[in-house]
Amino acid sequence: MQVLGISAFYHDSACCLLRDGKLVAAIEQEKLSRLKHDKSFPDLALRFCLDAGRTSIEAIDAIAYYERPDLKLERQLSMALQPEASESMRYAISQNLDPDRVEAEIRTVTGFEGPVLFFGHHLSHAASAFFFSPFDSAAILTCDGVGEWATTTFGYGDEAGINLMAEIEFPDSIGLLYSTLTSFLGFSVNDGESRVMGLAPYGRPTFVDALKHLYRAGRGLSFRLDRRYFDYLEGERMFSQSLTDHLGIPPRKREAAISQEYKDLARSLQIVLEEILLEKIRYLHDRTQSDSLCMAGGVALNCVANARIRRDGPFKRLFVQPAPGDSGGALGAAALAYSSMSKGQKIKTPLSDVYLGPSWNSEEIASLLEGSGATVADYRGREEALCREAAQRLSKGEAAGWFFGAAEFGPRALGNRSILADARRPDMRDHINSVVKKREAFRPFAPVVAESEASEIFEIDVSLPFMLETCQAHDPDSYPAITHVDGSARVQTVNAKQNPRLCRLLDHFKRETGVPILLNTSFNIKGEPIVCSPLDAIICFIRSNLDFVVLQDFLIERSGIPPHWMHICSTPLNCGAKAVSDDIYAMF
Ligand SMILES: [Fe+2]
Repeated sequence: MQVLGISAFYHDSACCLLRDGKLVAAIEQEKLSRLKHDKSFPDLALRFCLDAGRTSIEAIDAIAYYERPDLKLERQLSMALQPEASESMRYAISQNLDPDRVEAEIRTVTGFEGPVLFFGHHLSHAASAFFFSPFDSAAILTCDGVGEWATTTFGYGDEAGINLMAEIEFPDSIGLLYSTLTSFLGFSVNDGESRVMGLAPYGRPTFVDALKHLYRAGRGLSFRLDRRYFDYLEGERMFSQSLTDHLGIPPRKREAAISQEYKDLARSLQIVLEEILLEKIRYLHDRTQSDSLCMAGGVALNCVANARIRRDGPFKRLFVQPAPGDSGGALGAAALAYSSMSKGQKIKTPLSDVYLGPSWNSEEIASLLEGSGATVADYRGREEALCREAAQRLSKGEAAGWFFGAAEFGPRALGNRSILADARRPDMRDHINSVVKKREAFRPFAPVVAESEASEIFEIDVSLPFMLETCQAHDPDSYPAITHVDGSARVQTVNAKQNPRLCRLLDHFKRETGVPILLNTSFNIKGEPIVCSPLDAIICFIRSNLDFVVLQDFLIERSGIPPHWMHICSTPLNCGAKAVSDDIYAMF
């Protein structure tokens, strides 16, 4: 049985292929279209999934969609009918009053004539976490801004399936509380939340009491926002003048300097979020009496809160879906469709890695590079030599683009589309920022460490393959490029089963330096999606100032770039990766 799962039309569209309960392929549309947070119908992602599965749309048994358009429209209409709703919001909603539009678009684009099944937004999140977890039974918490009506759900999963026992409904939303303050702090909603989290350790918890006036959260289900402080129901902006008056500071303007009070607000918000989530988690534990917890939804991207839940919460085991945001909803919807169509047959696809995206073999990359004029070192059949050479370069302070195998599904680069560097160097954060990432100086980079030796460097006793939790470094000063001001790091552990090439590189790096740890950040320029194809990687390599790039079995150093490639550097950055990509195709 083959099921395609789709999420689309809000942000981070994605598609996956599930065959007989096993995940065959998955990718976000943005990585193929090169448009960050692409929300359009994931036609390119769907085409990739069919190709990767060597199948066709005619051989698909069902298409599963991650949301109920009818319920979502019901909620949107209720918003539009509020007396205080803005004209612009009413207009936007009036442009899409057809709940059948999603199915019509699926059928028009794909030509699919079989069943199209719709599952609730939070049920899809819950399924994406539970069905792909290592647990036979578990409590499930989903938490985001909003789905159809639900903003947080409390559930339980076992061999009988998933039961969502209770929910918090819009407009009360833990996710929108965080997003509203993200907006107040001058960052984009649905994008800047991770920046707020990164800013928090620089602040003091001086706004905690003030923030607690914005909501009422008791034990159990209760969570109510005080609507005086929130304007998102009206549709013009997230927060009201009352919030500004209450906090006693003006909203920070985008790109303005981040003064101490905004850092304090970020810290206070992080504390408040963790307290709310811990309260809800304890309630869920009381209800389910389970030892295991699965989490998904955009709030589960908060690595610091996830770590706190593991450390201070009542559950013994935690699994956070590696793509907890809406792209991951495609996986959950597909799993639900498979489960219902196969009469409850158990899905057993615990995710040990997420290398589910497009890949290119060495011969394809060789033909891309052939005749390009680049000076290429060919390491085909010599992996040890390639890893030794790369490790030596990294140990001398060079920064690398690292492209290998299948692209990752989800928001993290986990060693196949990564920028790698020496985590021990005090200047490496500034170096990476100056040559490629250009992210805020307050945000540290993350490390990848050999799983077998992770506990020697970090306070860690579990594997963290998806880089979704932080932990403390034993000696943060030894790894200044990857530790935060509070000594924490957002760790990825890796073993040879998950990524043999990366483990080999770490092994060689340890031979050079004595430690099996590297800085690992996503291979992309600020504001652009993570690279997917070899051509994306080449473009990013040229436009950045990385010292060398490894494309599967080929190594190109900066001096090996032919002069005519530099044309790409003169293309304005703001025209977007796609335009550059179209422009450069003629050169290869
Ligand atoms: Fe969501």
